[in-house]
Amino acid sequence: MANADDVEFRIRDNEDQVCWDRIFDNGAPVEIEIGCGKGRFIINSAVAHPEINYIGIERALRYFRIMKERVVRRELTNIRLLRDDAVYFVERYIPDCTVSAFHVYFPDPWPKKRHRKRRLFNARFLDEIVRTLATGGTLDFATDYGEYYEEILALLEASERLAALEVIPERVRELGRDLTNFETKYTAEGRAIHRGAYIKS
Ligand SMILES: C[S@@+](CC[C@H](N)C(=O)[O-])C[C@H]1O[C@@H](n2cnc3c(N)ncnc32)[C@H](O)[C@@H]1O
Repeated sequence: MANADDVEFRIRDNEDQVCWDRIFDNGAPVEIEIGCGKGRFIINSAVAHPEINYIGIERALRYFRIMKERVVRRELTNIRLLRDDAVYFVERYIPDCTVSAFHVYFPDPWPKKRHRKRRLFNARFLDEIVRTLATGGTLDFATDYGEYYEEILALLEASERLAALEVIPERVRELGRDLTNFETKYTAEGRAIHRGAYIKS
């Protein structure tokens, strides 16, 4: 079994920005999933791509524990997990141009109007995605919530550094349609799934 202490990292212990080479010690590209839930996407990705380092960020303790237990049981050495607010982590701790991909699947839609300011995607968050992505890095996302999807597309249109990709990246496509637990749940309910993939120039 992999050591549970090695799988999880905490940020408030660090005062400086993160140094990926200190976390992984192998110089491989780093991809980040925000709001991993129980971890299906990140775990399947890490199994399929041992040459890539994965960071999974999930703030809900219940989901985080399930995901961590799965990572430890599978002895995956190319995943590190953070239980914290991803927005704070990205803004405060990630150095410029050091992330190869961000993945955001089924972000909470906060459908009530008075809660919309809680949505993950906004102009400030996208500025941080642009700042931290390496040139040629990608942002890949999916949602079942049509109105949120339109809002995300409008925000992305306004970004000069992110261009829409015609097809979603191969590494995501090859994992199939049941990418995450929520995708399976929403597909079973007959909801349409909206996807987007963007690249930083
Ligand atoms: C609707 S669930 C989707 C989970 C998973 N991506 C899936 O598709 O099965 C959204 C998840 O994002 C997490 N989340 C939302 N905002 C977050 C943030 N700022 N930082 C970390 N996790 C966040 C929530 O705790 C929740 O587990």
